Amino acid sequence: MRWMRAAGRALLIATVILAGYAGAAVPGGGVRDGGRGPMTLATAGDLTGYLGSLLEGWNRAHPQEKVTLVELPDSADETRAQMITELRSGAGRYDILNIDVAWTSEFAAAGWIAPLEPERFPLEAFLPPVVDTATYAGKLYAVPYVTNAGMLYYRKDLLDLEGEQPPRTWAELERQARTIAPKYGVGGYAGQFLPYEGLTVNAAEMVYSAGGSILGSEGERVTVDSAAARTGIGLLARGVRDGWIPRVALTYTEEESRQAFQDGRLLFLRNWPYAFAGASGRDSKIAGKFDAVPLPGRGGSGTSVLGGSNLAVDAHARHPASAKDLIAYLSSDQAQRKVLIDGSLPPVRASIYQDPELIRQFPFLPTLRASVLAAAPRPKSPRYEQVSLAIQAVTHDAMTQQQGPEAAVRRLAKELAAIARRG
Ligand code: GLC
Repeated sequence: MRWMRAAGRALLIATVILAGYAGAAVPGGGVRDGGRGPMTLATAGDLTGYLGSLLEGWNRAHPQEKVTLVELPDSADETRAQMITELRSGAGRYDILNIDVAWTSEFAAAGWIAPLEPERFPLEAFLPPVVDTATYAGKLYAVPYVTNAGMLYYRKDLLDLEGEQPPRTWAELERQARTIAPKYGVGGYAGQFLPYEGLTVNAAEMVYSAGGSILGSEGERVTVDSAAARTGIGLLARGVRDGWIPRVALTYTEEESRQAFQDGRLLFLRNWPYAFAGASGRDSKIAGKFDAVPLPGRGGSGTSVLGGSNLAVDAHARHPASAKDLIAYLSSDQAQRKVLIDGSLPPVRASIYQDPELIRQFPFLPTLRASVLAAAPRPKSPRYEQVSLAIQAVTHDAMTQQQGPEAAVRRLAKELAAIARRG
C-alpha cells in the first residue's frame, strides 16, 4: 500500500507543478510548507450572506493563500449529495468542507476527510457538546464552527391580545394553536416538515422531548420503539390531521418556514436562531411583534437536536497546511463574533455567550446557550444517511396519515435494526 501513497503524493506534486500554483512547488520536487496555496471552501447555502466578507478578511492578509467560496444548495441533503460526489471522485477540488455536524462520522469512516491534530485548535474554548460532534472513533476529524439549537418563535402580539404566555408544554402549544390561530386567520404551528434532514431533526426533537431516544451505542442499539416516540410522532400526525399544523408545512424547509412566519402566516414556528434576523428585518411583516422561547416538551421544556457545522479538511486537499490555518482563523474569537453579528448564527466559542455587550444586542443568547448545552446530538452512525432517510420516511407517512403513529414507530424500529445489521 505504501507505493500507492507514494504514487499519490507524486501525482499530487505533479498536479501542483502543472497547475502552477504560486510558491507551492520547490526545486527538487517538494511542496513548500506542507501544502500552502490557494484554497476552496465548500459550504451549504450562506442564508444570511455574511461568509464572503468574513473570508475577505483572510484573503487580504494572505494573498498567496486566497480562499474561494463555493456555495452549494440551501438544503442539507442536496449539499451532502454534491459534496459526496466530489469527495468520491478524489479530485480534491475542495480543500475545506463546512459539513453538517450530523455527517462527521460518515465522512470520517469513509476516509473522505483527514484527521486533525487537536492541539492546533482551541477546543477548550468551545461549548463542550459541539466538540463531540467533531470527533469519530476517538479522533478529531473537524473543528466546530457554528452550533445550532431549535427555538420556538411565537407571535407575541397575538398572545398578548389573548392575555396568554408563550407555551412551555405541548399541551399549551396545541391548545393555543387550535384556538387562537384561527381567530386571526393564521396557521397554528410549523417546523421543517418536508422529507429531508430537517424533518429528521424535527422528528428527533419530538421523540427526545417526550423522553425517548432513537439509537444507542453509536448506532448499534435501536431504542426508538417506545411510548415516548409514539407520543412525539403522534403529536405531529395529530397536528396535520386536526389542521393546527397547516398541510403546506409538509413542503417547508428552513427558508419556506421562515418566510411563512415573517409574512405573518403562522402563530408558532420551530426554527433555528438565524430566522430571528430575517423576522426582525425590513421585509418582515412581524418585526417587533414576535419573540422566541425554548422548545416546549411533554411535561415541561423540550430538548432540541444539536445542529450546526464543523470545518473539515478534504483527505485529498491540495493545500492542507493553508486549510488548517484558515480553519484556525474561522474559529478565532474575532471571526466567531462576526459569525454572530454578521451571520446571525450561533458561535461555538463559549465566552461570546457571556459578553454583556453582545447579550444586549442579542437578548436570546442566554436562552440559546442553555438550549445548546441541553441539546441532544443526532445518532453517530457511519450509515447516518440511511438512518436519517428512515426517520424522514416514517415521520412523513405518519404526518400524511398513511400509517398510524404506533405502526410507524414499530416500522422505524425494524428499519433501523436492519440498517445496524448491515454494518
Ligand atoms: C441546520 C442545522 C443542521 C441541520 C439542518 C437541517 O442547518 O445547523 O445541523 O442538519 O439545519 O435542515
